[in-house]
Amino acid sequence: LFAAVEMAPRDPILGLNEQFNADTNPAKVNLGVGVYYDENGKLPLLACVKAAETQLVEAARARGYVPIDGIAAYDKAVQNLVFGEGSEVLTAGRVATVQALGGTGGLKVGADFLKKLNPTAKVLVSNPSWENHRALFINAGFEVDSYPYYDAAKKGVDFDGMLACLNAAPAGTVVVLHACCHNPTGYDISPAQWEQVIAAVKARNLVAFLDMAYQGFGDGIAEDGAVVGQFVKAGLSFFVATSFSKSFSLYGERVGALNVVCDTKEETAKVLSQLKIVIRTNYSNPPTHGAQVVATVLSTPALRAQWEEELAGMRNRIKAMRAKLVERLQAQGVKGDLSFITTQRGMFSYSGLSKPQMERLRSEFGVYGVDSGRICVAALNDKNIDYVASSIAKVM
Ligand code: LMR
Repeated sequence: LFAAVEMAPRDPILGLNEQFNADTNPAKVNLGVGVYYDENGKLPLLACVKAAETQLVEAARARGYVPIDGIAAYDKAVQNLVFGEGSEVLTAGRVATVQALGGTGGLKVGADFLKKLNPTAKVLVSNPSWENHRALFINAGFEVDSYPYYDAAKKGVDFDGMLACLNAAPAGTVVVLHACCHNPTGYDISPAQWEQVIAAVKARNLVAFLDMAYQGFGDGIAEDGAVVGQFVKAGLSFFVATSFSKSFSLYGERVGALNVVCDTKEETAKVLSQLKIVIRTNYSNPPTHGAQVVATVLSTPALRAQWEEELAGMRNRIKAMRAKLVERLQAQGVKGDLSFITTQRGMFSYSGLSKPQMERLRSEFGVYGVDSGRICVAALNDKNIDYVASSIAKVM
């Protein structure tokens, strides 16, 4: 039966973890996957999460099936966070929200729904994009192409190229956009540039699909999520996949959501009914724990304040590590303008290192980053940063 099955390639990001775990180099450093580690190199358990879990354990309940679209209190908390409590889209009942298995799950539920809605539509992802965007939409049955994004020469966004591509896209094209902390480049566009993107989406009748996996890791929760409000204000129907994997350090709980902004309450009910079919026929209904934790934190004022503080702590430590990386690279004799490292936002730095340089970093030094040159600065700390900087300097 399986004689013709070929060996699939390793996942370009998660596959690195397997290689890293098997590496016997005692100095090894994992800067591959987008995971935040604290100053001691440990995955943090946020105090707000621990407090919510204690509350939940004390009031432990039996685990029945969760509704297909998720825990109602969770979906509501997600909506309030993403769209703002009391906002018109929410009071008008114009957002269909479903709990999803992480941000990836939100993207996949949306992709499957879109495929049914408009089977011939094409999908555009940024060049480059999160490695899984293209694969996910291809596996949902779409033809996937890209729009220009990264300009290597200017170390920034090729915004003219991006806009020209969107302005030439056929109606109905699904455009995957990074709401903040662009993965992998770390370069975001400004609010004024977003307005131009929104105008193109509107004029060309495109379908915007925002991926917001790193809210709070750029400049703040409100700042990073502001683009959602810009889309709402423009009167568009659009998709937003959100994730709490990083912002709550709940990677293994797979806790995310898909939000679909619709024109009317009636339309929203119909869209929600279709999302539920996608969910039911894939995994029936979502799990309980992570969503309960997030809902508890977001709806308890003291825990919510604690979360915001802890998230700010992660954000600020990453920023400090960016500045230190520049310093240490310079100390290792690396010449040229390194300010791009501190300009970039979120967990990643798009280093500009080539695939052979990234391979050398892994094989000779045990420093793991993605072949595209992406390194996770959220995994740097005072103990590993000198080693990482000297390793990078040696392969340059
Ligand atoms: C990443 O880009 O490293 C993260 O989003 C984790 C993943 O699932 O790839």
